[in-house]
Amino acid sequence: MSDKSEKYKAHVEKLRKRYEQRREFYHLLREYAWDILMSDNFRSTRNYIQHGSMPVQRHCLDVAAQSIAISKFLGIECNERELIRGALLHDYFLYDWHDKTRKGYQRLHGFYHPGIALRNASKEYRLTKRERDIIKKHMWPLTVVPPLCREAWIVTTADKYCSLLETLHLRRGNVSNIKRAKLRTAG
Ligand SMILES: [Fe+2]
Ligand SMILES: [Fe+2]
Repeated sequence: MSDKSEKYKAHVEKLRKRYEQRREFYHLLREYAWDILMSDNFRSTRNYIQHGSMPVQRHCLDVAAQSIAISKFLGIECNERELIRGALLHDYFLYDWHDKTRKGYQRLHGFYHPGIALRNASKEYRLTKRERDIIKKHMWPLTVVPPLCREAWIVTTADKYCSLLETLHLRRGNVSNIKRAKLRTAG
């Protein structure tokens, strides 16, 4: 077989694997986190930028998908329900952290937002110990006390990986959607 067709075969195989992973992830989302995905507050996070041009909502979905991928790749057994729910809620601070005119604006958002996210999420969901640990420690080492469970270690790793890609603009969101939402609320 020629080099070209070998490369083509490998490429198709890669796409097939990616498609399978994506399908499996959506299945897990539907099974474990449908209530979060459909909630108004979670949906509102698509109107806020996380890093670069990435909305918070997609950032959280990417962190959840990456967390599942890491646990599978490294063969780390973990509770997938808690892993996904904790990842989806890890940045549940519910405001535009770039907006300096916002009431209660804090310059050190990185230090404070895990606590704010945990408070918000606790009001709406009955969080497990692991989910609380995921949200509270996802900014480690900024949050000093290290994660206590493997799920929290995985999410903090996935979050750093996704944030780096977003900051370097290697993974982009759709800013025009956010601008449109702002115009709608302003009008
Ligand atoms: Fe965060
Ligand atoms: Fe994050």
